Amino acid sequence: MSGSQQARSTSTPFALGGMSGYLLKGGRVVDPSSGVDAVGDLLIADRVIAEIGDSIDPGSIEVIDVSGLVVAPGLVDMHTHVREPGREDEETIASAARAAAAGGYTAICTMPNTDPVADTASVVEKVWALGREAGLVQVVPAGALSKGLVGESMADIGEMARSVARVRLFTDDGKGVQSALFARRAMEYLIAFDGIYAEHCEDESLALGGQMHEGERSIALGMRGIPAEAEELMAARDVALSRLTGCRLHLLHISTAGTVELVRRAKSEGVPVTCEATPHHFTLTDEALEGYDPNAKVNPPLRSEDHRDAVIAGLADGTIDAIATDHAPHAIEEKDIEFQYAPPGLVGLETSLALTLTELFHKGHLSLSDAIERLSCAPARILGLPDHGTLAVGGPANVVVFDPDASWEVDPHLFHSLSRNTPFGGRKVTGRVVHTFFNGNPTTRDSELVGVSV
Ligand code: DOR
Repeated sequence: MSGSQQARSTSTPFALGGMSGYLLKGGRVVDPSSGVDAVGDLLIADRVIAEIGDSIDPGSIEVIDVSGLVVAPGLVDMHTHVREPGREDEETIASAARAAAAGGYTAICTMPNTDPVADTASVVEKVWALGREAGLVQVVPAGALSKGLVGESMADIGEMARSVARVRLFTDDGKGVQSALFARRAMEYLIAFDGIYAEHCEDESLALGGQMHEGERSIALGMRGIPAEAEELMAARDVALSRLTGCRLHLLHISTAGTVELVRRAKSEGVPVTCEATPHHFTLTDEALEGYDPNAKVNPPLRSEDHRDAVIAGLADGTIDAIATDHAPHAIEEKDIEFQYAPPGLVGLETSLALTLTELFHKGHLSLSDAIERLSCAPARILGLPDHGTLAVGGPANVVVFDPDASWEVDPHLFHSLSRNTPFGGRKVTGRVVHTFFNGNPTTRDSELVGVSV
């Protein structure tokens, strides 16, 4: 094999005769989980990664030429809003799975702010079962921390953790937990289930009525702002409570320089905290709101350049563990109205890899390996998904193949998501998903979804 680092030529004792699979030939195989970054072949046989090495004999197996392309562990999204149950017109679990597969994902963690809220075993089991039925990705349901997301009484955390969905990440995302006492009690309780307390950091008393980031642009545009401190105060509180209780803490969609610095310090002190940032927060600033585009309205809001730069620096030095989409579908009639009445959120599953490569890899902030680490390995590790985030030989073939140099223009009409709310329509990006394999089966071939019953 050629490349910066030799891949171990490893093989399983399978005989190839009569076996189903694919030989991905001549790609740049990048697996940050094992330190592999080398040109070679990857053999998928009987749904597992059977061998990685040089000039593998395909036997009767189909050969796919992937020269010039990157072969990596399938992407894992820690933060996907589906709208099922409740708003199946905006996104079903099946449509989210299609969007995810097209975007290079093999696993998605679904947020609980559905209707009804995923605060009981029966709702998370339903989400999990619909995910199995959709079949294109592994659907990993998150559960609510509080009943109805109102922050007062605890959701059925133990039952969700013990259910067939084996919920591990708990959050009231869409809202922050306002009571420090509730947050403390939830963390203490979660330890028994090795649960992760995941916070949408937003102090409502500071953020209430805010439409965008508070700063020079909110003043110029005449809109009420949400100060960075609304996020930072809650993040600081939760870090203190994580230190106190020992509970694992994950900070969702962090967006400010102060939060990045807080996490950097907390990690150096050994607090069990991880965090994520979204492609929109490292790509855009509040400048995107100058035309009052409701598709650029998100929560937390797009911030000013200094905050965006701090997020990029946090991703570069590993303070920010994961890139997560915060994929938040909304119906056109609800989004395409006056800015102040539009709900926050944008769809991200089908643009995240391209934005990461365009904004972070091609601009020199992240190596290819670090980009894959943030999009796949780290989220798989945090969520405890051993079958994802790795190209380990003998494990299920959850693989993405992408062209890091292919340029294309985002066309929301081509999205597989049922919703089209994105500020990235018409944007030129570089980096495109070519093939995705979930458990050894292709879900995307030549940038087209396959095997899908719509
Ligand atoms: O912009 C957002 N939209 N942020 C959230 O936290 C929730 C999400 C949604 O559910 O629409």
